[in-house]
Amino acid sequence: MKALILAGGFGTRLRPLSCTRPKILFPILNKPLIEWIMEKLSESNINEVIFAVNRQTALHLKQAKLKFPKNEIKITYSYDPPKKPLGTGGPIKRAEKILGKEDFLIVNGDIFTDINYSEIIQMHKEKGAVATIALYRAEDPSRYGVAELSEDGKIRRFIEKPPPGSAPSNIVNAGIYVLSPEIFSYIPKGRKVSLEREIFPILVREEKLYGYLFKGLWTDIGKTEDYFMLHRILLETFHGKVECLVKGEGRVAQPSLCGEGSVIGKGSTIGPYTVLGRKVKVGRDVQIKNSITFDGVSIADSSIINGAIIGENVAIGKGVQINEDCVIGDHASIGNGVTLAKGVIICPAKEVLESVTASKCVF
Ligand code: GDD
Ligand code: MG
Repeated sequence: MKALILAGGFGTRLRPLSCTRPKILFPILNKPLIEWIMEKLSESNINEVIFAVNRQTALHLKQAKLKFPKNEIKITYSYDPPKKPLGTGGPIKRAEKILGKEDFLIVNGDIFTDINYSEIIQMHKEKGAVATIALYRAEDPSRYGVAELSEDGKIRRFIEKPPPGSAPSNIVNAGIYVLSPEIFSYIPKGRKVSLEREIFPILVREEKLYGYLFKGLWTDIGKTEDYFMLHRILLETFHGKVECLVKGEGRVAQPSLCGEGSVIGKGSTIGPYTVLGRKVKVGRDVQIKNSITFDGVSIADSSIINGAIIGENVAIGKGVQINEDCVIGDHASIGNGVTLAKGVIICPAKEVLESVTASKCVF
């Protein structure tokens, strides 16, 4: 079976980290999201994956040294036209020839999940549906597509991002679908199409849309809060199962994960709930907790980081304090003695030499 991964969005809610990498390459426990997705797909006998992307994302994907599963999956790229994003439906129509005449899988490229793909594929075949959507119970359905499900698995209503308080249920679209080739006749060619707003409502009317409700792990990493929360859950899940490959005299408070080649200086404490990327250099008497640092970060002596995300190759000086909900873009540098108040966002490559006392974005 073939799978198409939708990965051409711009990840605006993950800025500034998404200015320099597509969502699909965000590290989850130090492994790019796409590697997790590909592993799961290969377990379900998917033998070809089509990346539906823009040129920029394709470039990032090709440059990243990705490790894909051993049993070979053929990879094909299908591009949105330059400067004309096709939405969530357009890319499927565009890949019609590649997808062929059999049922196929669609996966949103910003979802981390342990769903059993084989089960949804089986349900799709049993029901003879045109589309079967994976559904998940969410706390705040208004951020997602919401479905009203009948007992036989048919979707009676589908509303994309209903206003808060008006959702007919808390059962949301998990961004994973099995589609039959008939779907191509529903999607107009050559323009942006929203599968959720334009196509699903038609399928509901024709009673051809089914839902597969599942439990387990599911997160759309598209917002910083969710990216954080996912790490908390995974650190607990994987606690004791992954090696903490760290050198130096510092201490690691679990659950935490340190990437290969990282060094923690004397008197420093990393964790709990912290991920250090690869080759992260932590000086002496540093404290980092509830935080995620990407690869190649350096943090000088006596700095304190709590509840922040630090992008790739960021350099943090001595005695710096970085507070909750701060996000530092790749290659930025934070000068000695600087304090960043809660919620400060620093753009990539920015040099910050003075404290920032209120939540704001520093360009
Ligand atoms: N190729 C391409 N072109 N891909 C796109 C485009 C585009 O123009 N626009 C979005 N995508 C990709 C994104 O990269 C992402 O992987 C996926 O399509 C969904 O887009 P998001 O922008 O992340 O949508 P969302 O999270 O607000 O909502 C969608 O996902 C929810 C589940 O996380 C909808 O499908 C909701 O109904 C659903 O509940
Ligand atoms: Mg999303």
